[in-house]
Amino acid sequence: MFRQASFASKHFARSFSASQRRLASTKTIREALEEVIPVKQAQLKKLVEHLLGGMRGLKAMLWEASVLDPIEGIEFHNKTIPQCQQELPPAAGGKEIIAESMLWLLLTGKVPTEAEVRQLSRELAEKGELPEYVEKFIDSLPPTLHPMTQLGMGVAALNHESKFQAAYESGIKKTEYWTYTLEDSINLLARLPTLAARIYRNVYNPGQPIPAINKDLDLVGNYVNQLGFGENKDLTEYLRLYIAIHGDHEGGNASAHTAHLVGSTLSDPYLSYAAALYALAGPLHGLANQEVLRWQLNMQKEIGGEVTHENIKEFLWRTLKSGQVVPGYGHGVLRNPDPRFMALQQFCDTRPDLLADPVIQLVKKTYEVAPDVLKEHGKTKNPYPNVDAASGCVLYHYGLTQFKYYTVIFGVSRALGCVTQLVWARALGLPIERPKSLSMEAIEKLIK
Ligand SMILES: CC(C)(COP(=O)(O)OP(=O)(O)OC[C@H]1O[C@@H](n2cnc3c(N)ncnc32)[C@H](O)[C@@H]1OP(=O)(O)O)[C@@H](O)C(=O)NCCC(=O)NCCS
Repeated sequence: MFRQASFASKHFARSFSASQRRLASTKTIREALEEVIPVKQAQLKKLVEHLLGGMRGLKAMLWEASVLDPIEGIEFHNKTIPQCQQELPPAAGGKEIIAESMLWLLLTGKVPTEAEVRQLSRELAEKGELPEYVEKFIDSLPPTLHPMTQLGMGVAALNHESKFQAAYESGIKKTEYWTYTLEDSINLLARLPTLAARIYRNVYNPGQPIPAINKDLDLVGNYVNQLGFGENKDLTEYLRLYIAIHGDHEGGNASAHTAHLVGSTLSDPYLSYAAALYALAGPLHGLANQEVLRWQLNMQKEIGGEVTHENIKEFLWRTLKSGQVVPGYGHGVLRNPDPRFMALQQFCDTRPDLLADPVIQLVKKTYEVAPDVLKEHGKTKNPYPNVDAASGCVLYHYGLTQFKYYTVIFGVSRALGCVTQLVWARALGLPIERPKSLSMEAIEKLIK
């Protein structure tokens, strides 16, 4: 034993001193990498104009539920947002589109009747309770863990209940995949708001009781109730609209594409959507709505007194000159103001209390100045606002002030489009996604 130990320590001493005495010409792995990186960076710069650029505009995916036109914006089965607002049944006593109507349209391509929507609302309400193990799991997480991280973990844990996974293990036929995928999808949609409300309670109102699900209420009505804002009819209507029109934005955006990619491996809807949520949690994507509000509040604080176009302009330039993006502006596809932004602005325009709110006024005034500043800056291809430029400030006005939570609400919404695609991908038997990647040398050969 002693002999072994002394041999080991001698061996360690020998190798340690050898590494100390390395020749000046012998590089460490870090030094070797430091030499290679600038060479590759230069190579990449040469190639970037030709082939690399986040696959922007590459047509490589089938996505039925919605199409995004750069100028007209989003259309759900050829229906614009104003058309959906006219045609889709609202909640009982409400005016705005609800998640159930939008889900029906996305999944079937048809406008549901009021009776169909009420029946779907009831089904979702009946399936909305969380399994006890998920409640315990979520309650055990530290409240300092970002709400989006918690949401993804909760959704992944729900896969314990997956009907698709159980059926797959029992050897069902391919033609039956979609039915189990639909069953999981409906269960996921039903539980997502309950999970999201529990996270809100744990992080911001620990110990507060959560109201039981009301079987006569729509999905978002129950969600707002469980968040503790059920009395606020305007907030309920706002969230109904926001969650419905934010539910799908064709297939190439990072979260939708992630759900589709993971789903293509036959991962069940819970795991596929959990993965999508972590794409949504990036600041260039879903997290932008929390960033917008932080940025607008900073602007308000820095400006201090009277807000003029001139001092907004100065603040915008300070943001740009410090190398940051202006959150809520720009888009990978859109080249016009986002119709979702316009719909939320219209919601504000009909309510005097919202119009009088200084933060909402600031958002409006920023919109009057920012496009010209961004055009002058000359980088972004779309100098106009996207939906996130407006979404958070209305929540803030109604007292939902914890902006780290805002992306969770986006996460409750985006599931509508993602599960629609998962069901259709199984119904159409779409294959596993597996694009080809190339090394820089291979790309260079291709160009030559
Ligand atoms: C949405 C977004 C990620 C799209 O990115 P994209 O498709 O690469 O956009 P573009 O092709 O217009 O980008 C070209 C250049 O303009 C810059 N740009 C784009 N939007 C910008 C903005 N809002 N503010 C400042 N610069 C911006 C990009 O960073 C890029 O700069 P680079 O060449 O130095 O890398 C981008 O517009 C952005 O970061 N917006 C702010 C965050 C946001 O609101 N996200 C929510 C989207 S719904």
